[in-house]
Amino acid sequence: MLGWGEFQQVDLWHRKASCFIPAWPSPLLLPLALVLLCDGFNLETEKAAIFQENARSFGHSVVQLEGSGFVVGAPQEIKAANQTGGLYQCDYSTGKCEPIHLQLPLEAVNMSLGLSLAFATKPFRLLACGPTVHQTCKENTYVNGLCFLFGPNLRQQPQSFPEKIRECPRQDSDIAFLIDGSGSINPIDFQRMKDVRRVTFSNVMPDASSQFSLMQFSEEFQTHFTFNKFKENPNPQLLVNPIRQLYGRTHTATGILKVVTVSQHCHHRWRKV
Ligand SMILES: *[C@@H]1O[C@H](CO)[C@@H](O)[C@H](O)[C@H]1NC(C)=O
Ligand SMILES: *[C@@H]1O[C@H](CO)[C@@H](O)[C@H](O)[C@H]1NC(C)=O
Repeated sequence: MLGWGEFQQVDLWHRKASCFIPAWPSPLLLPLALVLLCDGFNLETEKAAIFQENARSFGHSVVQLEGSGFVVGAPQEIKAANQTGGLYQCDYSTGKCEPIHLQLPLEAVNMSLGLSLAFATKPFRLLACGPTVHQTCKENTYVNGLCFLFGPNLRQQPQSFPEKIRECPRQDSDIAFLIDGSGSINPIDFQRMKDVRRVTFSNVMPDASSQFSLMQFSEEFQTHFTFNKFKENPNPQLLVNPIRQLYGRTHTATGILKVVTVSQHCHHRWRKV
């Protein structure tokens, strides 16, 4: 993936199909050799077409349309107050890019439009998404995703998915934290992670409507406190200070699976998580 940095240019290379068949291939190797050799392509490195726009992170995502057109995303571009991300329609034959104007819903706050792009033909479908729609609900900020599905005319207002950003959750939340305590985490970072949790729990304390649990994984799994334990004694120092890093291998998927199972077992009346 391309980095987030100040990447403001797209170099477009022609794709040249190439196929090379060796003169005396062994019969056994031929099918494999054909697959390997015919799937390759060359990049035109000498006459690359360069497209530049003065938009932050222009080129972070690119999809090629049918013909000579393509679409470029600039998810970090600041378009207006509360509006981040932009899309550009470019054409190889003209060498130019034009911004694609679309009406964003008011609640699409700082969505990073264009962080991901996908294109499919027959019928023409262009999907542009932004995963960082900021939604403020009381003292919490939620991050939602929003996508736009364009038809062949990119000037036409696209369909929005979901149609509406979900409303702020009405009920209070139970939040299970899972921290990575495996050997790949630097002990200094592990300490930072603990500090952040302590601050989070302290800040939320006066509200007391949210409950937390905290678990750690590596190749092992450890429950530090459950929702109930948190409710009985919501003291961030006492809860977080004794946590020691487990070390070992990083079994992330198993960790996630366990946190879901354990949380449901310990707290059958799980509220929104
Ligand atoms: C930006 O978003 C925040 C939070 O949703 C809101 O309070 C503010 O009014 C918005 N500002 C503008 C200029 O739309
Ligand atoms: C949206 O992004 C702008 C620019 O980065 C920032 O100034 C503003 O505070 C952000 N708005 C919200 C609601 O986070």
